[in-house]
Amino acid sequence: MKWILLIAPLVLSLMVFSDASSAEKKVRKVIHSTPPLDYVGLENPLTSADPKTLPDNDPNILAGKRLYGKTCAVCHGVRSDGKGPEAEGFVTPIRPVDLTDPDAIAMLDQSYVLWRIDDGGLDEPFYSAMPGWKDDFTETEKWQIILYLYKNAGVSPKAKN
Ligand code: HEC
Repeated sequence: MKWILLIAPLVLSLMVFSDASSAEKKVRKVIHSTPPLDYVGLENPLTSADPKTLPDNDPNILAGKRLYGKTCAVCHGVRSDGKGPEAEGFVTPIRPVDLTDPDAIAMLDQSYVLWRIDDGGLDEPFYSAMPGWKDDFTETEKWQIILYLYKNAGVSPKAKN
């Protein structure tokens, strides 16, 4: 029976090790889901231009920048890279999205982003710390933030099908 004294710690340490590496694999980079029907296909009423191409001094970009800096940058970072000062403190494995990632808002159209700003991610399927902002901004302000999100991340919204 002595062998068990030798083997047990080995098995235990293997279990701990494999647990840690599978937990790492479970960290999802970005989740996209199906927005409610009333959001689908909404167009940005401020402009039909690709936000990435708008000049830095466009009034909507400037307004969006101000609102983003006040509200979103704390998590998503001033460069939209998901590295805001609060990002390290997350207890869930789901980190603020790096919005410059080609798998993030570049895969989405602006109506989807509007839904995410309204509802946040506290519920299914996101279960994240992303707050909802439905009543915190006017509709115009939300569309301005969306323009700035794309502009600052340097990506274009997904083309409509
Ligand atoms: C408390 C931290 C926090 C703040 C503040 C925050 N977010 Fe987030 N955000 C997150 C987290 C965490 C996620 C990733 C999980 C998810 O999708 O819910 C996320 C996801 C997103 C996504 C989804 C991106 C994608 O590709 O699916 C968008 C869009 C977004 N945030 C925009 C914003 C905007 C705009 C603001 C400011 C009005 C903001 N966030 C403020 C934490 C935050």
